[in-house]
Amino acid sequence: MCGIVAYVGDQNARGILIEGLKRLEYRGYDSAGIAILNASSYLAKSVGKVAVLEERVRQDSPNGMTGIAHTRWATHGKPTEANAHPHSDCKGKLFLAHNGIVENYQPLKKHLIAEGHVFRSETDTEVLAHLIESAYHGNLEAAVQKALAQVEGTFGIAVVHAAHPDQVIMARRGSPIVLGIGKNESLAASDASALAQHTDQVVYLEDNEVARLEAGRFYITTQGNRSVNRGTTQLEISQEAMDRGKYPHFMLKEIFEQPEAVENALRGRLSHSEGVAKLGGLESVMDRLQQARHLIIISCGTSYYAGLFARYVFEALTDLTVETELASEFRYRKLNLRQNTVVLAISQSGETADTLAALREARRKGALVLGLVNVVGSSIARETHAGVYSHAGIEVGVASTKSFVSQITILTLMALLAGRSRDLSFEEGSVLLRGLEKIPDQIRAILTQSDRIRELAQKYSNAQHFLYIGRKYQYPIALEGALKLKEIAYIHAEGYAAGEMKHGPIALIDPAFPTIALAPEDGSYEKIVSNIQEIRAREGRVIAITSEGNDKLGDLVDDVIEVPRNHEILTPLLTIVPLQLFAYHCAVLLGRDVDKPRNLAKSVTVE
Ligand code: AGP
Repeated sequence: MCGIVAYVGDQNARGILIEGLKRLEYRGYDSAGIAILNASSYLAKSVGKVAVLEERVRQDSPNGMTGIAHTRWATHGKPTEANAHPHSDCKGKLFLAHNGIVENYQPLKKHLIAEGHVFRSETDTEVLAHLIESAYHGNLEAAVQKALAQVEGTFGIAVVHAAHPDQVIMARRGSPIVLGIGKNESLAASDASALAQHTDQVVYLEDNEVARLEAGRFYITTQGNRSVNRGTTQLEISQEAMDRGKYPHFMLKEIFEQPEAVENALRGRLSHSEGVAKLGGLESVMDRLQQARHLIIISCGTSYYAGLFARYVFEALTDLTVETELASEFRYRKLNLRQNTVVLAISQSGETADTLAALREARRKGALVLGLVNVVGSSIARETHAGVYSHAGIEVGVASTKSFVSQITILTLMALLAGRSRDLSFEEGSVLLRGLEKIPDQIRAILTQSDRIRELAQKYSNAQHFLYIGRKYQYPIALEGALKLKEIAYIHAEGYAAGEMKHGPIALIDPAFPTIALAPEDGSYEKIVSNIQEIRAREGRVIAITSEGNDKLGDLVDDVIEVPRNHEILTPLLTIVPLQLFAYHCAVLLGRDVDKPRNLAKSVTVE
């Protein structure tokens, strides 16, 4: 969603800030803005892409070595120039960019208007600029601390003031801020990917902390002005990971990175001698995990489907009772979290507001809360008791691809670990370990079918609706495949448990409503073939994803995509790949903005 970049140093800030905004474009936004401190202070805003703002800044060529910039994803007020950040105070001296939501902005705004402040936007953010103005008496940092004490809600903010051209003030509560410290320059951003090309020395700000940045230096205090001593840490994002390389889109690059994503997920985590997975991040809680009776998995979107897959796997390999819950609904359920309940939060970004809120609720109720997160140092990673990193590498495309494959790999390892500490046998564990090791090459083999899948996309992409069906381990894959088509190609797609077809959706089937059937030769194969027959009887077209060498589908389906054979628990790691490619090729053929689909954000930081 919204993105912040800030700079103070010995270089002209404009290019660095615009470049930083471009790095954050993948998060999703609808307007952008920049403020640079110089003799007269420069402020420019635009609706639409960063390229529009860039052109404006290129023409104006403002100089100045301190500034802040922002991409806005509208919440309060439409995407207009007036509502775009940075916002300024009444005098036009102070500029502020904000991620998050000020929940008590209405009473604050009323009070500030009564004091004589003049507002120019419909945003909640603008109150922050005026609140700081009101608290400012020559010390910007102190004014920020004082103003934030009155704020309810979440924020990550960047503030500059014409009277302090050598400072940027950053603060956070519930919305990430990372500082980047270079030789004669300091940067800050809401996402480390905006800093990676300048420095690898970073500092993650904690909730309720305020940082004063000067060129090459930083000072952190609490909101209550207690000094905080924290060193920098090494950032692990390579420049290569941030570039598309030979690929036309990040999404395609990330689909093709999946063999390595699985290798990274498995690296150093398989113990063949014991038929078990080793997950260092869970060692400190192994005793509690062994005593656990009940597992609740919370997550959103693609991560939710990974959780749904995990339910089947944990149930197969352990005696745990497993529930998967949409994080956004978790708080509305009256769950009886007993002492031996474990809650697992799954998130690529580690910043999803619904998942964060749900895990806080689970902690409040005394559950052991674990995390499976991709972004190192993210809020979810820091707020869980223990957890495992996906190590999928940075994922730029808004559509999750490699992070999903990585998640379901690691969830299988978690279930294996839990199973082996219960009654799962060495032999059963070993079979899964051997199957997992085959996955990277098997995904590589599927990727060679990309051109043929593009031909299928050509044949089917004029359809207005699709049905995706699967059973058991393949049911979450049907849901995830349908989500990919919806979000990237903007084609309506329904994911369904194949057995549910006859309870309603079969009424939709006609020659214009194709079905993608997940039909590998696993324990549910015969049943899904019956479902395919039901569709054929109603003249529905069918694309089947099945196991290599299965020639029994014959005339029953219109098109077949084959995937290599593996254990049925592991086959979803393969069947998802053609569905990602199908959605990708449909989207390209339809001229969609594949990496930045409309209305979507990579990291959803509002509830
Ligand atoms: C997936 O393609 C989506 N863009 C979205 O559903 C995403 O999975 C969801 O917002 C959860 O994000 P997270 O994994 O970062 O928590």
